[in-house]
Amino acid sequence: MSFDTDITGFTDTDAKSELGQLSALLAKANMDYHGSDTPTLDDAEFDRLKQRNAALETAFPHLVRADSPSVQVGAAPSDGFSKVTHAVAMLSLSNAFEDTDVEEFDARIRKYLGISSSEPLAFTAEPKIDGLSLSLRYENGTLVQAATRGDGSVGENVTGNARTLSDVPHVLENAPDVLEVRGEVYMAQSDFDALNAAQIAKGAKVFANPRNAAAGSLRQLDSEITRSRPLRFFAYAWGELSTPLADTQKGAIDRLDSFGFSTNPLTALCDGPTAMIAHYRQIEQQRASLGYDIDGVVYKVDDLALQGRLGFRSTTPRWAVAHKFPAELAWTRLDGIDIQVGRTGALSPVARLQPVNVGGVVVSNATLHNEDYISGHGAKGEEIRGGRDVRVGDWVQIYRAGDVIPKIADVDLSKRPDDAVAFQFPSVCPECGSLAAREAGDAVRRCTGGMICPAQAIENLKHFVSRGAFDIDGLGAKQVEQFHNDGWVAEPADIFTLRDRFGQGLQQLKNRDGWGDKSANKLFDAIDDKRKIGFGRVLFALGIRHIGEAASNLIAAHYGTWHSLETAMDLAAMLEGEAWDELIGIDGVGSVMAGSLVHAFGQNSERAAIDRLVAHLEVAEVKPVDASDSPVAGKTVVFTGTLELMSRAEAKAKAESLGAKVSGSVSAKTDILVAGPGAGSKAKKAADLGIKTMDEAGWLDLIKGL
Ligand code: IVH
Repeated sequence: MSFDTDITGFTDTDAKSELGQLSALLAKANMDYHGSDTPTLDDAEFDRLKQRNAALETAFPHLVRADSPSVQVGAAPSDGFSKVTHAVAMLSLSNAFEDTDVEEFDARIRKYLGISSSEPLAFTAEPKIDGLSLSLRYENGTLVQAATRGDGSVGENVTGNARTLSDVPHVLENAPDVLEVRGEVYMAQSDFDALNAAQIAKGAKVFANPRNAAAGSLRQLDSEITRSRPLRFFAYAWGELSTPLADTQKGAIDRLDSFGFSTNPLTALCDGPTAMIAHYRQIEQQRASLGYDIDGVVYKVDDLALQGRLGFRSTTPRWAVAHKFPAELAWTRLDGIDIQVGRTGALSPVARLQPVNVGGVVVSNATLHNEDYISGHGAKGEEIRGGRDVRVGDWVQIYRAGDVIPKIADVDLSKRPDDAVAFQFPSVCPECGSLAAREAGDAVRRCTGGMICPAQAIENLKHFVSRGAFDIDGLGAKQVEQFHNDGWVAEPADIFTLRDRFGQGLQQLKNRDGWGDKSANKLFDAIDDKRKIGFGRVLFALGIRHIGEAASNLIAAHYGTWHSLETAMDLAAMLEGEAWDELIGIDGVGSVMAGSLVHAFGQNSERAAIDRLVAHLEVAEVKPVDASDSPVAGKTVVFTGTLELMSRAEAKAKAESLGAKVSGSVSAKTDILVAGPGAGSKAKKAADLGIKTMDEAGWLDLIKGL
């Protein structure tokens, strides 16, 4: 959708209509952003639409909607800051909700470390601050860089803004040469109230909650605005360090305190789950009077050597957990039910709500999961919400726990309007009109339109260009959608004829979307770079239901060439038992996957689209294992830390295709450890055992050309 940049000559009717569209569009984008891996709008476009909304609201203040996007949460990262690659990834925390989860956390750690229940094991317990995390890098005692978390590995450079915070020292004494201090930027509730009052007086944007206000204030392109906002900072962790701060978590926090950082006074040292839970209860009681928002208590293993041994899972440390406060509930009215269509054709119902504050967050959308969830009865007749269905106009209870998408937990039948009618779940796709069918045993209704359905086509294209798939530089979700909407790319194969067809339309695009010869050529080169591509990636990129990255690689490793795969699929489709048995005989491929794969290759139109694509590609052969030319054949390899050049699944499949055995843990039998950033206990153990260790680049060099 495109909006003018100008509002001269706009009437109330124009503004009202556009504000309505913007509200719907941004609400959907917000929902997608929080709920899926493929946001519908990219960050720059999201920001542009928000600015457009703000401009209209300033010009037409009497038309500001109750569900205005300017009071919604979920601002996407901006494109306006330079990017910072974190030297040590900024991870998130796994969650605990019940007391038993805390006991299990302790038990899990003891088991992992081989510590019996009679031996002491200490933890720190501290509030989980509801703000946004910030990493401050000091070199030789001077603040040189500040970055937001971003996606954990790349954040935004907000150095100038961070320098304006009074809790952020510019110079440290007696600090390690390299010290990255991490913590939470937040806004006190009283400061938040005062800021919003001032914003209202100015006719400026109001913030939904202190966390949004803190995020919005830190991520200002003008540092002077940040300076005018009362932001605070608690230090609770660290990233890269040239020398350790202490032997314990508590000791390290005390060091940070001695450097002049604010650390949380409610940090306690606990000797086990009973003391941790007692401290949690105490903090919970004080929660309302703290003056700042917190959403739980974080427990961390106190002994830093043990933290090192425990290390990390893919995105969370094993040595810490966030014990969240209970979920928040609120009642509001259901204004409508929209149906969104995803990549695999799934029709997902989304509740449009009268905006309501649920524990500090304004919620205007919630998931309704599927048809059965709305009707109040599951596929086997079991009751959901005591069998109460959900109708437009109903008074509904919203449930929000942490970062999960809010859902409708209950319906108040006593408040149901007399004219409310049972929701008729569509039996045709709202996007393309094709039949939407439900397979036996599947709660999800799916559009049968395949690629004639624009929603599926766009989602499929977005998947095609995504990271584990073709990952074409400069051709992200936004661009590919634009090309689709402009009629340039209907299916993946069209991407590879863009250069040839572009000559004719370049002028048009230049005018509309700001493409120039240089940027277009850069894109075409990036597309050309992907003409030669791995088998597994191509298969994964097709977005066949149930065929994920790992399965794609397994299948590729089994068949070796694209041609063999196609031949096998043809045979299997002709009900050749042997071909089918061979397919489901692949370790890791079950009958559901196999059925889906054979179906995709057997459908005329889908197969034709696959063939049109493959005609533009040189799909690399996966060579059968030949011990004579593989330096890793028969070796046991362990991957740890973050891999940046390939996915875990790809790395594993590649290693296996070269005859290596991939293991999840380091032992005396390990031959090679491939350690990426964030590698923890495994790297240490490998070092202790004298095991050959290399980084990802070293590994790729070793298997070069294979
Ligand atoms: S420790 C390696 N401690 O919670 C993990 N995080 O859900 C380091 N947070 O991204 C984080 N208060 O933004 C830690 N006392 C605290 C925290 C805290 C808030 C945030 C932080 C993190 C998120 C994870």
